[in-house]
Amino acid sequence: MRILAIETSCDETGIALIEATGGVRAPRIRILKNLVSSQIAVHAPFGGVVPNLAKREHLKNLPVLYGKISANSKSEMLDPGQTRDLKSKIQKIDLVAVTVGPGLEPALWTGITFAKELWKKLKTQNPNIKLVGTNHLEGHLYSFLLAKNYQLKTKNLFPAIALIVSGGHTILLTMDSPVRWKKIGETRDDAVGEAFDKVARLLNLPYPGGPEIEKLANRGNPEAIAFPRPMLDQKNYDFSFSGLKTSVLYYARDHKPTTNDHNLKADIAASFQQAAIDVLISKTKRATKEFGARSILLSGGVAANRALRKRLLVVSRKLSVNFMAPPMKFNTDNAVMIGVAGYMSFLRKKARRFAAQGNLDL
Ligand code: KG4
Ligand code: ZN
Repeated sequence: MRILAIETSCDETGIALIEATGGVRAPRIRILKNLVSSQIAVHAPFGGVVPNLAKREHLKNLPVLYGKISANSKSEMLDPGQTRDLKSKIQKIDLVAVTVGPGLEPALWTGITFAKELWKKLKTQNPNIKLVGTNHLEGHLYSFLLAKNYQLKTKNLFPAIALIVSGGHTILLTMDSPVRWKKIGETRDDAVGEAFDKVARLLNLPYPGGPEIEKLANRGNPEAIAFPRPMLDQKNYDFSFSGLKTSVLYYARDHKPTTNDHNLKADIAASFQQAAIDVLISKTKRATKEFGARSILLSGGVAANRALRKRLLVVSRKLSVNFMAPPMKFNTDNAVMIGVAGYMSFLRKKARRFAAQGNLDL
């Protein structure tokens, strides 16, 4: 199945062209084209995403990206050595997939409207082309299919524990198969990515804060400051990051790191990162043991954090389970993962309301 996917839920405009085979039991993905236009520079002066600016940028970017995909471009193919004619592939699209939620509604609407128009246009060439509304969180969840070590050994893959860590969500799930999952815990306040972004702001680091905190943390001492590990000892799988963020705020207020005080700032970043990761690791590890999982699947923007990946890899080796996380560029928002989730939704005949749903759940 050839799928054109569109993602506009937050501050990345993404369009991708993929081929999916294998069905719901053993899906396999081939990426023909993956384009992401980041709006970081636009939102950075405001220290966070401004919904109406995001909408404006998506409106501007969508036709440009689609133009690049539908033009006879050969330059950005992901598969090495390939020189295929994308134009003819566009004419043979079977499915258009677009994120309908969760996310910023004005931003979501731009993608939905664009997808609908495009679907109508492509329908004149291919009357069988379908349109599917996709859940952004399912996109993150399914991005393990893009991991380098993903194989069709589905028997050894499940049951799995999936950890989704993004700017808007922190969710722990059990997965019995690619189509059966159950949420076992989530954050009760801030998402972990949101905590990274807020802590970065109080350290006067640019937006988005996650990668900046990670960079700074590499130079700091993670044991320097004993920040709290919220809900670590509670025997549930929920999280809370707002208290940790407040502790960092008080610490920074009492110790006043100046812009030149690189060591103190680095120690704060490293100690905060360590505290946040400790909680994520501890709960994921306990869930893996309790549910007898054979794999740990990590996804979402914060999955780009190398310290988190490294520690989850160590845990998975100790527990003799698989560890899968997508390559770096597929952790943060992209349209490839939306194409994958769209494929699964289409096969499962999951009809979603074709309207922006800001709070859509998994
Ligand atoms: O999945 P994503 O692109 O968007 C949402 O669906 O929210 O995640 C974005 C989040 C932001 O909070 C960003 O700061 C965080 O992921 N992030 C990171 C890193 N890279 C991105 N957090 C920690 N370390 C990173 N390297
Ligand atoms: Zn996301």
